[in-house]
Amino acid sequence: MRAFVINQLNHPSKIELTKDAPEPKLIPDQILVDVYSAGLNFFDILQAQGKYQNQPEFPFILGSEFAGIVSQDSPTPLGCSFKPGDRVFGYAQGAYADRVLADPGQLLPLPQNLTFDQGAGIFVTWPTNYEGLVGRARLQKGEWVLVAAAAGGIGMSAVQIAKALGAKVIAAAGSQAKLGAVKKYTGADYLIDYTKPGWQKDVLKITGGRGVDVVYDPVGLIQDSLKCIAWKGRAVVVGFAGGNIEKLPLNLVLLKNIEIIGIHWGAYSIKEPGHVPSVHKAVISMLQSGKVTPVIFPEVYPLERLADGLVALENRKTWGKAIVRIRDEPVPTAKL
Ligand SMILES: NC(=O)c1ccc[n+]([C@@H]2O[C@H](COP(=O)([O-])OP(=O)(O)OC[C@H]3O[C@@H](n4cnc5c(N)ncnc54)[C@H](OP(=O)(O)O)[C@@H]3O)[C@@H](O)[C@H]2O)c1
Repeated sequence: MRAFVINQLNHPSKIELTKDAPEPKLIPDQILVDVYSAGLNFFDILQAQGKYQNQPEFPFILGSEFAGIVSQDSPTPLGCSFKPGDRVFGYAQGAYADRVLADPGQLLPLPQNLTFDQGAGIFVTWPTNYEGLVGRARLQKGEWVLVAAAAGGIGMSAVQIAKALGAKVIAAAGSQAKLGAVKKYTGADYLIDYTKPGWQKDVLKITGGRGVDVVYDPVGLIQDSLKCIAWKGRAVVVGFAGGNIEKLPLNLVLLKNIEIIGIHWGAYSIKEPGHVPSVHKAVISMLQSGKVTPVIFPEVYPLERLADGLVALENRKTWGKAIVRIRDEPVPTAKL
């Protein structure tokens, strides 16, 4: 099968696709999935170079987030509801390949209203944002939210979830083109270019001088955003896409009576596994309702051009969720 095999650490742009990789060895308690689309993540670039917290043994196949169909020759683990032919999305090491073996606990049914491209970028991003906004930030209807990097994979989903929850959203991104995409796809109430010095004054103006109730930050802009947070506001630390882990003077926390809150979705499966299904259920129900729609970067890369996609992501050239398409969506056959 085709697979993006890592035999030695290197930047993905220097690695060739393997066209005759061995098929996954079937394991009775794992599900075999024919991968249709897979999500591109910054951590894939780190993992290929040995810079990620989770480094599999060599040789390994890159990629983690995917959507596909349970293979006809998949094992059917005892007590598992998935069967061959089911549309699924999930998370498993080795997603940049024709087939991947997945733990049934890391698979969910793909809602019928979503394509495989859309499904390939949901498993990490959407539950992170739902728990980040609902569980951690306790976002209420009518509150103001500032979403940083609103055009990114996390951002586009966070804006939509916040809107679906009835919040007023100020979306911040780094270029007019990206803000245009946010406007077109998310229904954000206000747009801010955060490369413009003093952008926080615009946020204060929009909120009538009050500031935002919630700051949602996947970039590393917490300290800058505290200039426009409301009294008793909550600032959620989601990630450090800007490459810098901030150090915060705690007097800022005291002066405005604010809370700094973390969200690490991946840790829930270890620390609070009982909570995970309720978040999955809420996300799937929101996606099925049609109130929110996963946004895909229009240049969908074939597996042969995976490295181009990862380089575009690394260079901040993508918006929405960047995807690699492994196979085309099956054409529905007419019933006779
Ligand atoms: N906490 C969790 O559980 C969790 C879960 C998933 C992801 N994350 C983290 O969330 C962050 C965002 O993920 P994502 O999927 O949204 O990534 P993404 O699609 O690549 O978007 C990241 C955005 O960050 C902005 N950015 C600012 N400075 C940047 C820089 N120096 N390099 C690259 N981008 C920069 C860019 O937007 P502009 O050009 O508009 O500034 C970029 O579009 C990542 O750090 C990821 O690890 C955390």
